[in-house]
Amino acid sequence: MHAKLRATDLTRTFGTTHALGPLDLTIAPGEFVCVVGPSGCGKSTLLRITAGLTRPSTGTLEIRTADPRPAAMIFQDYGIYDWKTVLANVRFGLDIQKVPRREANARARDWLTRMGLADFADAYPSALSGGMRQRVAIARALAVEPEILLMDEPFAALDAQLRTILQDELLALTQTTRTTTLFITHSLEEAIVLGDRVLVMSARPGRVIAEHRPPFSRPRTGDIRDTPEFTALKGELWDLLRGEVHQDRAVAA
Ligand SMILES: Nc1ncnc2c1ncn2[C@@H]1O[C@H](COP(=O)(O)OP(=O)(O)OP(=O)(O)O)[C@@H](O)[C@H]1O
Ligand SMILES: [Mg+2]
Repeated sequence: MHAKLRATDLTRTFGTTHALGPLDLTIAPGEFVCVVGPSGCGKSTLLRITAGLTRPSTGTLEIRTADPRPAAMIFQDYGIYDWKTVLANVRFGLDIQKVPRREANARARDWLTRMGLADFADAYPSALSGGMRQRVAIARALAVEPEILLMDEPFAALDAQLRTILQDELLALTQTTRTTTLFITHSLEEAIVLGDRVLVMSARPGRVIAEHRPPFSRPRTGDIRDTPEFTALKGELWDLLRGEVHQDRAVAA
């Protein structure tokens, strides 16, 4: 089967900062790949390259999509428009796809309801909390039913309870739709719950230093959080990551 996404020998520098790579990454159709790594190691840069928003300095990125549905990206800083209402923000990708207004409104409202924001359709983002704004960004990305979903720490700003609920929702959703997903997170729990694979990146310049497949068959639910296998893998990943975080702090100090 053809890879949905293939990065080969990717690097990115910004001036004298070597931000990323070299990095190779192949994602199969329907696969959910999570990336964890220390702050500043190039995770957002990797995602922006895959979204076509940043050019790699060297290397290539191939994305294979079957139909005109776009890859949808959820940004670390939300990326929602303050001058549009919540409903218009969620409808944004559907408007670009020229989905008829009535259907677009219905789909957007459906996603707002799922995100617990039904009462805020006509509000402006400035009236929302950070977590609510992030849910608007999630609703906007999922409303287009993207073929490839690129998510940059989408749940980072949410409280622990809501974060758990949305993890479980995303798990159920992607297992139904088999949406190919590249998901960046700081949270090892999140990566293990959601991922078919978890990639651990080194301190900057970010390279993939380890890859794990959480030993949980699909469809799975959030109940796996309570298993010994989950705790064991989390410990293993943290041992890897801890060294990289320390290395980064030593360099910064
Ligand atoms: N547009 C840019 N111009 C200059 N430097 C940049 C730019 N974007 C990223 N960088 C630098 O590249 C490095 C990687 O940044 P990036 O945002 O990809 O890290 P990250 O892993 O997403 O970090 P975090 O976990 O804190 O979000 C950092 O040193 C950052 O300062
Ligand atoms: Mg980032």
